[in-house]
Amino acid sequence: MASSFCYFNGKIVPADRALICPDDLGVLRGYGVFDVMKTVNGKIFLFDEHFKRLSDSADYLGAELPVGKTEIERTIKKLIAKNKIKQASIRIVLTGGRSADAMHFNSQSPTFCVLVSEFRPLKEDLFKNGIKLATVNRGRDMAEIKTTNYIAAVKAINERQKKENFFEILYVLDGSVLEASTSNFFAFVGDKLVAPKDNILKGITRNLVIKLARKEFEVEERELKIEELALVKEAFITATNKDIVPVVQIDGKKIGGGKPGKNTKKLMQIFEEFVKSY
Ligand code: PDD
Repeated sequence: MASSFCYFNGKIVPADRALICPDDLGVLRGYGVFDVMKTVNGKIFLFDEHFKRLSDSADYLGAELPVGKTEIERTIKKLIAKNKIKQASIRIVLTGGRSADAMHFNSQSPTFCVLVSEFRPLKEDLFKNGIKLATVNRGRDMAEIKTTNYIAAVKAINERQKKENFFEILYVLDGSVLEASTSNFFAFVGDKLVAPKDNILKGITRNLVIKLARKEFEVEERELKIEELALVKEAFITATNKDIVPVVQIDGKKIGGGKPGKNTKKLMQIFEEFVKSY
């Protein structure tokens, strides 16, 4: 989980000494954003793209990132070395910081931390046999920003996952399929690959998958209606900590006969080759 050393408001400190005040807007109002990255072959995978998203999220909050791109990269590398990590999972969190009236904040004194821990890949079985999703009728609030608000996902995982045996929830809003708890959703409608376009976080993995997929398939970024799921032959989710994972069931209904499809497998292979040569 959390590393033994992390970066917290300007210093590298033991993680249990990085203490967030209870009057922090991140705690009081969920006023925070974050980003998750990983290392691949000793490099921070798609760092430019992740940094751009982090600064866009910070701009949205109106909070200044207290350190620049080079300094963040240097800090991550220092933490990886200090914590003796082989492959890293990196989590950067920025909140509005302390607030006297639980509403106003100083854009120049946000709370900023970098956590680095050993990357834990998903179990091989999930890539091989696929996962199940369960829909919820809602979208994420301000879905385009990587906010720290995951209440619907955390609630569903804790209250329903054991009983219903799903891997993640799938947000469906006004008949449109959006994204999963912490991943983007894709579906093959016929031989066309459809990627939901609006009211989602445009994942860094999603954007790369779209780019790679265009060499093999016709790709459409558009609204995906819930009725279309009945026609879907293959589906999968993507995220930094998961790459591409086939989806074989949604709300108890099988997709593609309940087995990962050939197009998905092909994309997984193309993605793996990209990662290997990164
Ligand atoms: N989540 N959609 C949501 C809601 C997410 O939380 C994530 C990532 C994604 C995929 O984005 P990316 O490809 O850039 O990782 C889509 C991270 C991994 C998390 O919350 O841990």
